[in-house]
Amino acid sequence: MTETTILRGRLLRFAGDPFEIGAEAALCFDEDGALAMRDGIIADVGPAAMVLADHPGAQVTHLGESLIAPGFVDCHVHYPQTGIIASYGAQLLEWLNTYTFPEESRFGDRSYAQSAAQTYFDEQLRNGVTTACSFCTIHPESVDAYFDEAARRGVRAMGGKVMMDRNAPNTLTDTAQAGYDDSKALIGKWHGVGRALYAVTPRFAPTSTEAQLAAAGALWAEHRDCVMQTHLSENRNEIKWVGELFPGSFDYLGVYEKYGLVGERAIFGHAIHLSDREAARLAETGASVAHCPTSNQFLGSGECDVAGLMGRGVRVGLASDVGGGSSFSMFHTMKAAYEVAQRRGVSLSPVHLWWLATAGAARALGIGEKIGNLAVGLEADAVVLDLASTPILRHRVARADCINEALFAQIVLADDRAVTSTLSGGRVVYDQGESR
Ligand code: GUN
Ligand code: ZN
Repeated sequence: MTETTILRGRLLRFAGDPFEIGAEAALCFDEDGALAMRDGIIADVGPAAMVLADHPGAQVTHLGESLIAPGFVDCHVHYPQTGIIASYGAQLLEWLNTYTFPEESRFGDRSYAQSAAQTYFDEQLRNGVTTACSFCTIHPESVDAYFDEAARRGVRAMGGKVMMDRNAPNTLTDTAQAGYDDSKALIGKWHGVGRALYAVTPRFAPTSTEAQLAAAGALWAEHRDCVMQTHLSENRNEIKWVGELFPGSFDYLGVYEKYGLVGERAIFGHAIHLSDREAARLAETGASVAHCPTSNQFLGSGECDVAGLMGRGVRVGLASDVGGGSSFSMFHTMKAAYEVAQRRGVSLSPVHLWWLATAGAARALGIGEKIGNLAVGLEADAVVLDLASTPILRHRVARADCINEALFAQIVLADDRAVTSTLSGGRVVYDQGESR
């Protein structure tokens, strides 16, 4: 018989979507809570007295005042850009040509890709991110390195080979047919194997010919249980360029619609400068948006209207978008989302922000029934947080009147130092004490 293990401490989880039911109803907080795990799955969760009574033989770890919370979910990131995070002085199109494409060109070398994947997963887990959906590069080797490393660590991971057949260096282009064939082979190799899930990944409209977008649409139609990820309306020059490259299309999303790339399980990075029609179509079709606020600030792209999109019924999740994004930390990402919304006159509550970085992001990826919350039957992916990880946080949290205030202080002031440990499938995959 397998053993049940229990973590006992303060416990944060969600009773629902705060954008629908309000922050107060969505927040489920136990001052003395417990999370019971068996075979990598959450077996029980709730007030400690109840959980402990129901599992008398379980091995219990007491975490005192630490907070047990759902593992963070980063629904749009580029693991091959780990090495070019924090690159100076360019906006999107120049940044791609100057920093991104030269770096991504190196990922045909399996050992280079493997080393980058190791560094990337170290960073993710140190920051409490238990699942991410990553772009790889055009090279199948980059996908193998990514999923191999995820499997080695036992974490759930989503990602896919970038499809790109024009407007990029020769070292970084495939063809419509090769992009289709390679992606299809990778789906067969990785999708649903262990905790890996494949994402069909045309980079963005400007780097794919119409033939390639059509091939991506056909591939996704054949594998509709895969996510389709791409970029949408991030930068004004990009949007103008899309208009020139696709003169027949009435807007940016229309290009993707034409090739069957919009619908449930499609997730669009950024979605900042949307027309009314585009926002309405995202909602109608059940597509999702990855909100990447540190990236949008860092690259000077603009400000996504998260509250407006959620209000219209679009599924939104938070994302780092590293290396355009400036941090692996979901605290930094939530803080940036708060600041971006503030500029639009909206003050997102800590519950709304935390939900976007966990359950919301999981739902945006179509895997909300697997991860993103602490609930019976979900995979046991969690973080243990020290709410007083720095002198200023200790000082501030000591004055907090309620958990909301303590959570907001984390969002504004915390970083990887707050992450004491990260659990994936019930196993500790990062322990701050061991890594020091
Ligand atoms: N648009 C197309 N490719 C990229 C990328 O790598 N990063 C960002 N931020 N936007 C993109
Ligand atoms: Zn991106």
